[in-house]
Formats: sequence, C-alpha cells, structure tokens
Amino acid sequence: MDYQSGFGNYFSSEALPGALPLGQNNPQTAPAGLYAEQLSGAAFTAPISENQRSWLYRILPSAVQSGFRRLDSGLWRSGPFVERPAPPDPLRWDPFPVPDADKATDFLDGMMTLCGAGDAATRNGMAVHLYAANRSMTDRVFYNSDGDLLIVPQDGALELITEFGKVGVAPCEIAVVQRGIKFQVRLLGKAARGYVCENYGEHFALPYRGPVGANGLANTRDFRTPVAWFEESRRRVELVTKFDGNLWAADLDHSPFDVVAWHGNYAPYVYDLRTFNTMNSVSFDHPDPSIFTVLTSPSARPGTANVDFVIFPPRWMVAEHTFRPPYFHRNVMSEYMGLIHGVYDAKPGGGFEPGGGSLHNCMIPHGPEAEAFDMASRAELKPTYQGDTLAFMFETGMILRPTRLALETPRLQKDYRACWRGLATHFSGHGK
Ligand code: FE2
Repeated sequence: MDYQSGFGNYFSSEALPGALPLGQNNPQTAPAGLYAEQLSGAAFTAPISENQRSWLYRILPSAVQSGFRRLDSGLWRSGPFVERPAPPDPLRWDPFPVPDADKATDFLDGMMTLCGAGDAATRNGMAVHLYAANRSMTDRVFYNSDGDLLIVPQDGALELITEFGKVGVAPCEIAVVQRGIKFQVRLLGKAARGYVCENYGEHFALPYRGPVGANGLANTRDFRTPVAWFEESRRRVELVTKFDGNLWAADLDHSPFDVVAWHGNYAPYVYDLRTFNTMNSVSFDHPDPSIFTVLTSPSARPGTANVDFVIFPPRWMVAEHTFRPPYFHRNVMSEYMGLIHGVYDAKPGGGFEPGGGSLHNCMIPHGPEAEAFDMASRAELKPTYQGDTLAFMFETGMILRPTRLALETPRLQKDYRACWRGLATHFSGHGK
C-alpha cells in the first residue's frame, strides 16, 4: 500500500528502519545521526483533542538556511483585503485559462487571489485563490506561514512532494497542506488548474455528525497521509514562504526533503471526494447544504464556521412534494462556489462552467435560474440520479472581499443577474 490511512489519528513512519527513536522524542543523539525537530501546528498548551504536532528526524534542521529576501507576490493577495469595496451584487467568473506553454508557470507563479476575509496575521478568515500551471516546481520549495492550503484540482493531476513524503492528488480529490509544511507541486500532465482555499484560522476537521451518527459523510479511514520519503542532496534550492501576506525567498544548499522518519498528528492529507457518503432527503424538502460538509474550520462562534468545505456530489434525488433544486435564499454566511465537472442543478443553463466560480456574499439573494425553476416546478418527481456533477463551496461567516483583479478581469461576467430576470410572476390570488 502506498499510503497510510487515517485522519485525526497518530502516525509514525520511517524510510530507514530504526530511524525513529523509541520511547522518547528527543534523545541525546537521534538514531542514524539525524536531527530531531518539532513542527507545532497548535499552541503547546492547546487542549489535547486539538493539539497537533509532529516530530521530524532529518539530515539537517530547518534552521540551516540563508536570510530571506522579498519576492514579488504576483497575483497572490492576503488579508486584510482592502483593494476594493465588496459590492452587494452576486458575482460570477468564467474559467481562467491555463498559461500558454511558452510562458513557464509553476504552482506559485500561477496563483491568483479572487477574494478573502479576515487577516492572516491574526489567524482569522480565509482567501479563495485559483491556480493554473504548466510547469512543475523543481528547484524551489514552498511553505505557507499564513495558513493551511486546501487544494482542489479541477484539471490535471498533481504530485505533492512534502517533508512527510509524496502524495498524489487528482481532480475529484482534495489535498490539505498545513501551515509550515514544506512542499513542491509537480504536474503529472502538461498543465493543471484548480482552486485553493487558504485557511488562516483553525485547522480543518471533520464536522460533528450529530444525529447522523458514527458513520457517514467523510469517513476517517478514507484520508491518506504520505509515508516518510527523503532525498540526500546538496543541490541549491530556493525556499519560498508567504509570511504576513508577502512572499519571501531564502537559499538552501541542500534538499529540505531530508526527513528520514517522523511521527505525530500534524501531516498533510488527501481525500477522495468520491468516497463521501452523501445524505439527502428521502421524504420531502431540500436539506440545507451543510448536510454535504466535508471539512470544517471552526470559529470562536459555535456553529458558525471560519470556513466550511462543502461538496455537491453525484446523488439520488427522491424527495416528493418538493421543489428539488437548491431553494432561493439569503444567507448570513458568504458562499464561494466552484465546479469541478458536470452541471450544477441550480444552474443548468450555462455560465457556471467547470473551472469558473461564483460569489454570493452575506445576504445577497440567489437561487435557481429561471430555466431551472420552470423545469423543476413541472418535473415529474420520480427518483432521478444526478451523476455528472461535482460542485463545491467555501462558506464563511465573514464577508469575502473581491480583489481588484477579481473585479476588473474580463472573466467577470457582466450580467450574472440576467439568469434570474426570466423569473415570471405566477401569482394567482388576484381578486380572491
Ligand atoms: Fe447559496
């Protein structure tokens, strides 16, 4: 088996037998002449149920590096998001293209920010980015000081080389690389495109299932974590980090993928969205989309997420006496939606394309377009399987402020509201 399974579990992995010290974390001399280094993803004093840290046993400690120099941040933006006021309009974007082949663009070069909320420095909020790349990262390695990255490939499979080992992630899967973890993104095809949620807040966790019970939705056993892998190389590597909203680079004279063994519960993971055990109504009405929550980053306000990652996967629809598509609504939460493949049932008329996205901020009314409303109002309510669909949502309790790029790009649709203009008055109560 390539990968360990588990989530919220404790892992230990060694690429060299005997490299993990037994019975203690920090012996006077670590096995095989390695250095011991702790990577803390939570405060030392965080409650044990939320405490995340790993011990890495590596050829050289991370402290062996040059000073940092500022890099141009390209189109990557961080909170606080103050470039433009957030308009109280629904917004929708066409997909952004993959860069031309003659313009070498790796995962970092191809990152652009659409919107965000909160502030990386105060560890609150999130940002929505798109990535598009036609080159692998080869001589540079990245770690994010500002938050965890939830990577949602839409087109093109990736291999993530991390301090903890290698793990693949393809469309219909997601990867989470937490704050501080060094990694590279390699392309397994000619190009790749997708979405990223940068989570400044609490780490993602499985939602409390409540009355759903001990099984269902995303299950612990379906998360994959890499196993230890290392290279001993004295090559020159550029180490890039995003720190307090800015990109910085330092030089290494060796590969940072020199962790020979590790143990702990703070490690990157991949989840196949096709293993999501989907719940839905088997009687009437349309459950709130929170029934499709894969991962949640809680805020200090109980039940109000800093970020929820929600999917709208293939599923049977059997509810009777019911308008089946998503209902019209206004939501205190802000919703960014993307589409991995297929058609989203509230927007069958085009305009919400794979790789594109929409933003319905706090209290902005939205719902099915006119065509979807008319079809669903007349549809025969026999069981139907909606197969070719995989949409997702990043939902937050904060207002997501679009960046200047997001508001000025020609990919922003000029008249997204037109999809509701055809909704006719059907009121039949005149004179009664
Ligand atoms: Fe919504």
